[in-house]
Amino acid sequence: MSYNLLKGKRGLIFGALNENSIAWKTAERVFEEGGRFVLTNTPASMKMGTIDKLAEKCESIVIPADATNVEDLENLITKGMEFLGGKFDFVLHSIGMSPNVRKGRTYDDLNYHYLHQTLDISAISFHKVLQSCRKLDAINDWGSVVALSYVAAQRTLYGYNDMADAKALLESIARSFGYIYGREKNIRINTVSQSPTMTTAGGGIMGFDKLYDFAERMSPLGNASAAECADYLITLFSDLTKKVTMQNLYNDGGYSSMGMSLAAMSVYTEGLDYADVKEDLSKKGKKATAKK
Ligand SMILES: NC(=O)c1ccc[n+]([C@@H]2O[C@H](COP(=O)([O-])OP(=O)(O)OC[C@H]3O[C@@H](n4cnc5c(N)ncnc54)[C@H](O)[C@@H]3O)[C@@H](O)[C@H]2O)c1
Repeated sequence: MSYNLLKGKRGLIFGALNENSIAWKTAERVFEEGGRFVLTNTPASMKMGTIDKLAEKCESIVIPADATNVEDLENLITKGMEFLGGKFDFVLHSIGMSPNVRKGRTYDDLNYHYLHQTLDISAISFHKVLQSCRKLDAINDWGSVVALSYVAAQRTLYGYNDMADAKALLESIARSFGYIYGREKNIRINTVSQSPTMTTAGGGIMGFDKLYDFAERMSPLGNASAAECADYLITLFSDLTKKVTMQNLYNDGGYSSMGMSLAAMSVYTEGLDYADVKEDLSKKGKKATAKK
């Protein structure tokens, strides 16, 4: 369903690799809501993925850029504004990669060259995008910038490794730049902390299926899907959220406020199966106890 929330708005979307990507789902939703945008990814990811299909569907173009490279970013921003015929109203940073995670290095045995790369790709690139946009005066007044984060910035989750440090830095950049861009041009900058989601980046995390299942059990509303994340993001790009800035906003079904749930406890309760708990909850109007 479309509400025309983004009619007349122009934007820049980083990170659509394939149709599972959060950025892909977001691009589709932005297009439905009347927004126009330029897509970007690294040349290697463009070859690996299917971003051209998305561009065609959304009447967009793909401009290659490595988000750690300021020259690439400046070229992207300049050409993107030319294509769209004006400055951006929204920017989505949906980028994450850790060579330590990829190569199976644990947090107590990090390769420091890889750590630099993790931080550069997954966090400092956000600063580079913001600083390049500001230098080129590429974002309209009352524009909105969002980067995707994860609760591992606040709490330790086994297996998330140095990406936790990258997300903590990413969220800090949103606050620090949010002050500068807000003061000068009323541009808002936020991070959205998303549930575990079945994507290429998500699947690379050690024990992802267990993490996903745990979060699903712990969240009263269940994990948020990539499509549900896209729904939330379009509200943040719209004029309905003009005074929300410098925040880390959870789109996680309630996970971040939980300590223990019945469904998670059922794992430790003999004879109590999660499927039974779910069944029981729906039958009894959420009055079930673990006594089955
Ligand atoms: N999947 C999850 O469980 C989950 C949960 C919370 C937050 N996130 C975050 O959401 C964002 C998007 O990830 P996703 O889950 O859609 O996975 P994805 O693999 O589809 O997207 C990650 C993107 O980052 C891009 N990228 C990597 N290095 C880059 C570089 N140097 N320059 C430009 N782009 C680069 C990749 O090409 C890819 O398109 C990431 O920030 C991720 O950390 C994901």
